[in-house]
Amino acid sequence: MISPATIQQILSRIDIVDIVGSFIRLKKRGVNYLGLCPFHNERTPSFTVSPSKEIYKCFGCGRSGNSIGFLMEHEKLSYVEALKWLGAKYNIAIEETEVSAETKQLHATADSLYILNNFAAQFFSDALFNTDEGNNVALTYLKQRGFREETLKKFGVGYNSEAGQAFTNAAFSAQYNRDVLQKSGLITFRDDNGIDNYRGRIIFPVHNQSGKIAGFGARIIKNNDRFPKYINTPENEIYIKSKILYGAWFARQAIDKADECLLVEGYTDVLALHQAGIENVVASGGTSLTPDQLRLVKKYTNNLTIIYDGDAAGVKAALRGLDLALEEGLNVKLALIPDNEDPDSFIQKTGIENFNVFIKDNKKDFILFQIELALKDAGQDSYKKSVLVNQVAETISKINKAEDFTRQQDYIQKTSSLLNIDEAGLHSLVNKFVRERIIKQESKNLPAQNFDSGLTGPQTDNKTVEEAHELFQPEEKNEQGLVRALLEFGIKEWEKGQSVAQYILSCIEEEELVEDKNLLEIIALYKKWYEEGQEPTEKNFLYYEDQALAKKVFALFEFPYEVSMGWNKHDAEPMPTRESLYRQDVLSTINYLRLKRIKTMILVNQKDLERNSDPSELRELIQLHRQLKEMEIQLTSSLGTVILK
Ligand code: CTP
Ligand code: MN
Repeated sequence: MISPATIQQILSRIDIVDIVGSFIRLKKRGVNYLGLCPFHNERTPSFTVSPSKEIYKCFGCGRSGNSIGFLMEHEKLSYVEALKWLGAKYNIAIEETEVSAETKQLHATADSLYILNNFAAQFFSDALFNTDEGNNVALTYLKQRGFREETLKKFGVGYNSEAGQAFTNAAFSAQYNRDVLQKSGLITFRDDNGIDNYRGRIIFPVHNQSGKIAGFGARIIKNNDRFPKYINTPENEIYIKSKILYGAWFARQAIDKADECLLVEGYTDVLALHQAGIENVVASGGTSLTPDQLRLVKKYTNNLTIIYDGDAAGVKAALRGLDLALEEGLNVKLALIPDNEDPDSFIQKTGIENFNVFIKDNKKDFILFQIELALKDAGQDSYKKSVLVNQVAETISKINKAEDFTRQQDYIQKTSSLLNIDEAGLHSLVNKFVRERIIKQESKNLPAQNFDSGLTGPQTDNKTVEEAHELFQPEEKNEQGLVRALLEFGIKEWEKGQSVAQYILSCIEEEELVEDKNLLEIIALYKKWYEEGQEPTEKNFLYYEDQALAKKVFALFEFPYEVSMGWNKHDAEPMPTRESLYRQDVLSTINYLRLKRIKTMILVNQKDLERNSDPSELRELIQLHRQLKEMEIQLTSSLGTVILK
């Protein structure tokens, strides 16, 4: 954890124009700055940065946020990584709060591994470009295959000599720790002697999500049955194969822009595509995608296109586990490269234009592809076919997001014609799977949660409350308004010895004026900070670690509230500002919420009246009705005296 003092220091230095400006070119336009949006393709700039509000917003694609949000989105950093990035930029030493000895050890090992990997990558790169052996054996070979030096340098490709101890000697004289060397997989130890693990191999550094080198893949130069083609880093503190996609670091912005991620098998495929100008590409290393890798893709885009060698046995393996992709709402397409070529050799042979055309014409939806494959497999076997129909129905049933409904319908129609079965029949089979899953989930989630507005006694039924609630939906703005007022004016004085925050918080608590869960979350956090002695404002929220929450706060402030009604615009007097009217602002908002609450209670009470026949209970209900009505009248008239929104 980064210490609050450090965070404070960083926040005080943040300059959004400076930060966004390190990634895109901004031009001053009035009080704001304007540039081309880095999140979508555009010719005319609609990406606006407001230095006074410390936010950016693109009027083309709608993305918006603050400096930290920008770093998280553009650079795909975590919150902590974004803070560290800022710390480095502004030369602020990052002070971390106490962590357990175990975590410390883990971090220490991880840090040492990163440092060692960096050293190794430098060493290998030097060996490739600046030694005779590297030049003659490896660089010549790579150039023969069509790779240019700039591409190799961009990806940090290197070479290690056949001699056996070139790297070991260098690492020993640089005094790297033996345990770390062992963990890195760079050196194998026999007794006290170390020997290079990668000998006479071309070496591809593997970067993780933050661009650090987590491990290596080392390719033999001449294929040889006696040795494996690739030697990869063993699993250790920083190299967790199931979480890494080769090339993701270099592809992140291109994927974002293209809104599509291409997946190939090999290191060389990634390099070849990059070199041809296609940068939204990552490699799986020839194995099927793991849930973590799918999630990684999803961080950037919903569209995944797999480009594999057509004859690869890997295709089937790659398709396995893709049901999960559907559940995650990923759109998966597949294009197979013909004639024993892989993307690298295909692109070198046919050129980039043909490659693009080929992919465009040949990419198929992966579910349909799977069916075609299985149909071929099943042949005339009717049992196998009915198993297939069931599998297909189950797969389609996993497209369960509401927004994907038309996609599901589309699949049902297409697959039923592929399988030559009745569309309606497939439909009901799919629904059966959906039902089964819902039943399973519900039995897990018991007891079911009922809608509860917090306003009514246990005897009121939910439907009534919902009805009442619906009636007042538009008033929801007032809940937001109250929270906005809390953040904006909380530290001002309400009465002698009482702050606005204290007043608002006590009203909210005693009268349960706010129902919205998101807003309650914001209020709870505000209260916590307030009670800790801080003087929170919207800024504390906008830069809060939980960026989802920060966005909710951001939404409260996105549209300027108008001071409205009752103010004659032709008056000579200047328009009062929200600031100068904060007392009325708070009061009118609270009274509106009170009124809303009373109206709900009246409605619920009326329903009770209709249902009840017991005379003494009826009397009580009628009395309550009168009281509520009176309160309603009072509130309505008091609202007339303050500013209406
Ligand atoms: N791979 C591996 N270990 C092996 C073979 C392959 O880890 N013994 C992984 C590597 O990540 C490799 C990918 O699977 O990049 C694809 O394998 P392949 O197509 O054989 O290698 P390429 O990288 O395409 O190499 P080349 O084009 O030079 O044959
Ligand atoms: Mn290849």
